[in-house]
Amino acid sequence: MGVEGEKRLAAARAVDLVDAGMTVGLGTGSTAAHAIRLLGRRVREGLAVRGVPTSEASAALARTEGIPLAGLNEVERVHLAIDGADEVDPQKRCIKGGGGALLREKIVASAADRFVVVVDSGKTVARLGAFALPVEVVPFAREQVRRRMLALGASVDLRGGAGRPFVTDEGNSILDCSFGAIADASALAARLDAVPGIVEHGLFIDIADDVIVGRGNSARFME
Ligand code: A5P
Repeated sequence: MGVEGEKRLAAARAVDLVDAGMTVGLGTGSTAAHAIRLLGRRVREGLAVRGVPTSEASAALARTEGIPLAGLNEVERVHLAIDGADEVDPQKRCIKGGGGALLREKIVASAADRFVVVVDSGKTVARLGAFALPVEVVPFAREQVRRRMLALGASVDLRGGAGRPFVTDEGNSILDCSFGAIADASALAARLDAVPGIVEHGLFIDIADDVIVGRGNSARFME
């Protein structure tokens, strides 16, 4: 089974957790897209749920799949959120944001009663940091934050480049910050939380309740 197959297996296991009446956070990226398509199939078979999308792209996909949607401000509760990740460590801490949707993703994941991360086997790591950490910044603060990140030891790339910077769904920029292996992810997250101008960063610490890993022909919950 290739990478796409592993993603789909993990996504399918998570979609099995969806029950009638639930409000479901819909993640962003290729693995979350598998989950949205699989959930769409169940909706077309009669499952009554609604989705809270974490990006305009996921909203568009969910609409084509026939999943009723609501904004986060329109719901009192998100029962379950399903999303992919770029890296996951053994403590279920993640780097997310490769697709640029980390801000809405973290808000929805944190709001959910249960947040389930779905990944292929290549995403599991002993220590976070090989994947450049996405840091979402307000454009006004971009260069100040870049200098702060350099001072913390990262090499920094403005996503999209200076000529055509990538713009998030919330109108911000993303600095991809390569720290290499992160010795203390929780401490780094706390430092980034304290920097004015950083709207959000892709370290998801103590947010994932479950991680489902597709490996070969099966998908298993991480212990
Ligand atoms: C989107 O902003 C990201 O957080 C994705 O969930 C993450 O990049 C994983 O994407 P894939 O499922 O496409 O690998």
